[in-house]
Amino acid sequence: MANVKLTNVKKIYQGNVVAVHDFNLDIADKEFIVFVGPSGCGKSTTLRMIAGLEEISEGTIEFDGEVVNDLQPKDRKISMVFQNYALYPNYTVFENMAFPLRLIRPKMSQDEIYERVTKAAEILGITEYLTRKPRALSGGQRQRVAIGRAMVKDCKVFLMDEPLSNLDAKLRNQMRAEIILLRKKINTTFVYVTHDQTEAMTLGDRIVVMKDGYIMQVGTPTEVFDRPRNLFVAEFIGAPKMNTFKTNLVKKDGKYFVTPFGAEIPVTGQKADLLAENGIDSQEIILGVRPEHVVLADKPSKETIRVILQVNEMMGNELHLHLLTDDNTPLIVRVPTMNLTDEFRNELVMGKELYITFESKVMHFFDTVTEKSLLYIDKEEPVQEDEEEINAE
Ligand SMILES: Nc1ncnc2c1ncn2[C@@H]1O[C@H](COP(=O)(O)OP(=O)(O)OP(=O)(O)O)[C@@H](O)[C@H]1O
Ligand SMILES: [Mg+2]
Repeated sequence: MANVKLTNVKKIYQGNVVAVHDFNLDIADKEFIVFVGPSGCGKSTTLRMIAGLEEISEGTIEFDGEVVNDLQPKDRKISMVFQNYALYPNYTVFENMAFPLRLIRPKMSQDEIYERVTKAAEILGITEYLTRKPRALSGGQRQRVAIGRAMVKDCKVFLMDEPLSNLDAKLRNQMRAEIILLRKKINTTFVYVTHDQTEAMTLGDRIVVMKDGYIMQVGTPTEVFDRPRNLFVAEFIGAPKMNTFKTNLVKKDGKYFVTPFGAEIPVTGQKADLLAENGIDSQEIILGVRPEHVVLADKPSKETIRVILQVNEMMGNELHLHLLTDDNTPLIVRVPTMNLTDEFRNELVMGKELYITFESKVMHFFDTVTEKSLLYIDKEEPVQEDEEEINAE
């Protein structure tokens, strides 16, 4: 159990590759933090710096207020699970799990080792495999052994780097649920790395969205989904991806409209209030509309956009319709199947003309240059920049 604090942490690899820029994060004791982002954004590097497997180029990492920069991994009281399991093929499952305990000095008693390994095996449901070698296990079972091996030791911080990425989709779902249960049983601080936004959303108390070595946003799953700070987060979180395209925001008589593809859709509710509060005027914007917020209209009107259906993906409980506007902008809409008549569903074939509009209460607006949200602004940020400029003068 520990609070983990990263202050201005930077990683420069040989050849002047800056993998992590100025990373600041305060992880609470027993919190489950997920680092998520595309390949190469610095997730593993940051995790490995916390583990002590990678030198920190600048900044400090503290566990419970103690700087650990110069502590060896073995002295940091961390446990780590890697993507490729790294099990010893010639050892039994029991011996694989007992391995970290046998390294502890002063020596741990056989009884204690037996007790810890069998308890972890029980929690993970692998008791019956304890005498087998890893090659006689399925991928999911091996993954559980790898997690078990990390669990047996007392640790302050549990670190996991893409532990489920070798598993097939079904097993990944199942293991995800098991990690949620595991987390309840071993009440410790977790830092979990994944490139999968679903894993991040379902596991994290808070999610750290990263890109090119920078933090794009830190927040609860709800915050990053409902209130993305920038276009990157908006597009990265949520599946299928948010529809985004350039259009105009128009302020007329104190009311806001957007004018995508010739339609005129009013902005209503809290989003309109936020635009007004932030002093936003008529301007070109990037509009963001999640596929679940695109609505099929019964008939054309001033608020609708004509589209042509390209692909109809049947997902079971919903359809994903891939549409093309008259100027060839692709859009995706998610339609719950239970709202559709069989007759209408049969008509949803390639080339079908449809009319859509957007839920006016849940649209997102981004600056075309900075790609920052026009709704959710870090209010302190510009003030600090101004101060610096003044000081510089
Ligand atoms: N030993 C190294 N030497 C030089 N550059 C490195 C080294 N390790 C990683 N990098 C670079 O640092 C950046 C971040 O790598 P990192 O492994 O942290 O990314 P990641 O977010 O974990 O990606 P992935 O999802 O593919 O695992 C990448 O550009 C990578 O090429
Ligand atoms: Mg990685």
